[in-house]
Amino acid sequence: GTGRQAPASAPNDDAGTLVERLLAPAGRADPYPLYAEAHRLGPVSRLADSLYLVAGYQAVDQLLRDPGFGLYTMATGQDAEGPLDLLNRSILRANPPDHPRMRSLIGKVFTPRRVAALAPRVERAVDELLDALAAGSGPVDFMDRFAFPLPVTVICALLGVEERDHTRLRPLAADLTEVLELTGPTTEAAAAAATELAGRFTGLVAARRAEPRDDLISALVAVRDAEDGRLSDAELLGNLILLLVAGFETTTSLLGSGLSLLLERPELLAALHAASTAGDGDAAVAGFVEEVLRYESPVQVLTRTALVDGRTVAGRPVPRGADLIVLVGAANRDPARYRDPDSFDPTRTDVRPLSFGAGAHICLGNNLARLEATVAFTRLVRRFPALAAAGPAVRRDRLVLRGLQSLPVRIGAAG
Ligand code: HEM
Repeated sequence: GTGRQAPASAPNDDAGTLVERLLAPAGRADPYPLYAEAHRLGPVSRLADSLYLVAGYQAVDQLLRDPGFGLYTMATGQDAEGPLDLLNRSILRANPPDHPRMRSLIGKVFTPRRVAALAPRVERAVDELLDALAAGSGPVDFMDRFAFPLPVTVICALLGVEERDHTRLRPLAADLTEVLELTGPTTEAAAAAATELAGRFTGLVAARRAEPRDDLISALVAVRDAEDGRLSDAELLGNLILLLVAGFETTTSLLGSGLSLLLERPELLAALHAASTAGDGDAAVAGFVEEVLRYESPVQVLTRTALVDGRTVAGRPVPRGADLIVLVGAANRDPARYRDPDSFDPTRTDVRPLSFGAGAHICLGNNLARLEATVAFTRLVRRFPALAAAGPAVRRDRLVLRGLQSLPVRIGAAG
């Protein structure tokens, strides 16, 4: 940044270069120095005629809450009925009037009450995974043994996906979510993953239609089959795939990033352990989880398009049809919002990360994700205060869905 003010008509070349660097391997590995540069360019930059970059906290928050901005249909290279295109039929990519219709239908079955009722199931799943870790000696991969199995077990129980072995779902989700990266054309692997998931859910829908159970698939099938038929077949499938993948992919990252931060700073692990044995562990763990969400947002980038004329973001006019790259990960480290934003400090107050989005599309599962993370870290630090790194963590090569691939740990003596 040279501080020069670009004329309103010219795209900001510095911002364009910055986005190119973000999408390159070094940017994907560590986007944070580039976010700091983005903040120096300003909250909103114009990249091209109808493409904008939004990095400021206020700007991102305002934009996500403005109904004048919505989602565009992702280019999947498939026709509207193709399996990969089912995601475009889901709530995640819907605009009014489809979005409020689906949101209220899914909201009716995915209620805070149903989430709260899951707490004992979450606690049991956490304890079983910790028991299994305690039973072994030697280093283990925390991602394999905890960060992935916890949320996948919980979302499968909620949906009613019965599987003895969830491991296949991890590469499937990884392949499918390639479509969310901004790096290029959709891969064959993403299409194959969508086809496999659609096949599985088609079978499960038929099974639950024949014999309903107390699970989310049955509840959504009932919504689909109700007189007023307010959910189409494609929407049912698209939303089931979304719920499954959204249910574990990002929560896995949150758990992995959280533990990795604790292992890098053993004094934080000790402080959490002390708080939890002193009886004020709940607030300490909740503060820790919010700071992990802020500092290592599992979803770094969202996209929007201007649906109407005459909108502004941070005072800048954004014409109808313009697309916006929304840097949630940068907003969470905006120096105008957080003092010393690049330092990890679980004792910060007034932390409101935009990691679950905001406005109409705010994450439907945010309560569930927070429940899983707080139960997990509470029990983890209580039980394994001597947890330590057993080798270098390996990061996934992703910008949008940021997280670790593996995290070798040594359990140490039990507490
Ligand atoms: C939407 C993040 C966990 C289900 C979103 C959005 C974000 C997000 C940023 C908004 C997307 C947008 O505005 O374009 C996260 C993070 C999670 C998490 C960081 C974990 C740490 C979950 C879980 C579930 C879930 C556990 C389900 C069980 C959904 C659904 C939507 C959504 C259904 C779409 C809502 C809509 O478009 O109206 N999530 N999520 N998420 N999330 Fe999550």
